[in-house]
Amino acid sequence: MEWMSSSMREIEPKNITNQEQKEKIAKQIAEKVKDGDVIGFGSGSTSYLAIKEIAKKIEQEELNITAIPTSYEIKALCYELKIPTASILEKRPDWAFDGADEVDKNNNWIIKGRGAAMFKEKLNMVNAGITYILVDDSKFVDKLNEKMPIPIEVYPEAVSSVKEALLDLGATECVLRKAEKKDGPVFTENNNVILDTKFTEIYETLEEDIKSITGVIESGLFMEYPVEVLH
Ligand code: A5P
Repeated sequence: MEWMSSSMREIEPKNITNQEQKEKIAKQIAEKVKDGDVIGFGSGSTSYLAIKEIAKKIEQEELNITAIPTSYEIKALCYELKIPTASILEKRPDWAFDGADEVDKNNNWIIKGRGAAMFKEKLNMVNAGITYILVDDSKFVDKLNEKMPIPIEVYPEAVSSVKEALLDLGATECVLRKAEKKDGPVFTENNNVILDTKFTEIYETLEEDIKSITGVIESGLFMEYPVEVLH
């Protein structure tokens, strides 16, 4: 039996910024989809628009693909659009796509995680041969982390010790992300909390240094991954 009403309609992104440009990139990514592909699906509004385009192509060309979604939001969208899903436990992505919060113009270093989905997003990225990063022009910056924080997902009981270690590492800001319609912190889909951080300098081993702190699950800093930025 099918549900009469869809919960997905309630969680679809509202007020998408730079929608026209994002829709153009969404069409570009849909063109890359081939029958039989296992594709890592990123999260956020750009990925949302890309998935809508991919669904149209699947229907028109009767393709069989499998999506590996990176968040509840995107998994629900796949159910709604009847795109089969798998977890990364079952299948490895042939390729992936995702949005970004900031892209350093000079070397493709990226910040992600505004929507708190960066752990699964990075898991797809390290396992996919190539990840297409879909961005409108507003995402390109000369220097990362001036406007957007680097989010760091932390095991909740380690939050104080991780915060001290991050300050020792050179973080100048380190703020527990608060929920908007719930008291207390945001809990990720992996039941962890997020520290939003600022560093004065983004240096080559920063991602590795953050990850080496016990209690850090993952950061939203993406350096040196097999990506191609599409805009
Ligand atoms: C999700 O946690 C993020 O990494 C998103 O991929 C990123 O915030 C981009 O979002 P938009 O496509 O909505 O700009």
